[in-house]
Amino acid sequence: MTDSRFEQWDVVSSVGLTALVVAAGRSVDTHRPDGLISDPYAEAFVQAANPAQPLATRPVEPKDDSDDELWQMMSGYMGTRTRFFDEYFAGATGRGLRQVVVLASGLDTRAHRLDWPAGTSFYEVDQAKMIEFKDAVLEQEGATARCDRRTVLADLRDDWPAALRAAGFDPATPTAWLTEGLLPYLPAETQSALVDAIDDLSAPGSEWAIEDFTNIAQQFDDPAFGRVAAKMGVDMQQLLYSDERPDPAATLRSRGWTTDTHVAVEVAKSYGRTLDPLTQRLNGQSSFVTATKAR
Ligand SMILES: C[S@@+](CC[C@H](N)C(=O)[O-])C[C@H]1O[C@@H](n2cnc3c(N)ncnc32)[C@H](O)[C@@H]1O
Repeated sequence: MTDSRFEQWDVVSSVGLTALVVAAGRSVDTHRPDGLISDPYAEAFVQAANPAQPLATRPVEPKDDSDDELWQMMSGYMGTRTRFFDEYFAGATGRGLRQVVVLASGLDTRAHRLDWPAGTSFYEVDQAKMIEFKDAVLEQEGATARCDRRTVLADLRDDWPAALRAAGFDPATPTAWLTEGLLPYLPAETQSALVDAIDDLSAPGSEWAIEDFTNIAQQFDDPAFGRVAAKMGVDMQQLLYSDERPDPAATLRSRGWTTDTHVAVEVAKSYGRTLDPLTQRLNGQSSFVTATKAR
């Protein structure tokens, strides 16, 4: 299924490749002795995709090659953010939520690797080729979802709420939403429409976890980061939008949601992980926002 109105990508091109880079980061963290997460499928995605520029999936001793070293450092952030959002979902289901939506799910395997209470519906929304690749690898790995997983092949610039409803999503049921690694890849007007849609589709008591890394676009002007991105085959300057956009947390508060902001470098510290200075500069000031819609 392709939609000729929008540019399509696969797991080794355009913004699709960023999902593979993140999976590689999760694989590195999974294999770190001090790892914060366990993603048993992350490495299989990278192997199956076989990208033109090889991506490290295991920790390596820092050596002279500063790009490798930089990549290892950046993966420290991926472990931190993944762990944070794993815990967010554990909290949300603990508070009784049984409907989950991950927008731009990429190679996220939470449906398969986390425990979900009986009766949990788990929706993943991403472009068709991304979901088809992921499902093929998960099948090859013999992975089984631990919840009622439903995939929604849609573009977030399009009428994805209609596709989500068609897949069975119930707007009257409180939902735990996640947008991780997404917002700056969307133009400002798409982000605003997405905030409106999530608010509209959220019953009272719904929650939303947001990775806010809007400030990252300008970091790729720095040659150190530009070089490592190029080495991964990703043109971050071209993929990230830096157009002005309303702060989603402020918009949500103005609509009766409560929000909490957790700065990444502090979250890492709370897990006993110190982000190295370069990673602090690139991702450390990103934040993880958790929001709850009033009951
Ligand atoms: C950095 S990856 C993050 C993937 C996943 N959330 C994670 O953290 O592992 C960005 C994802 O956004 C998806 N994406 C970006 N723009 C999109 C759009 N307009 N419609 C659907 N998916 C989109 C890409 O396909 C990709 O899977």
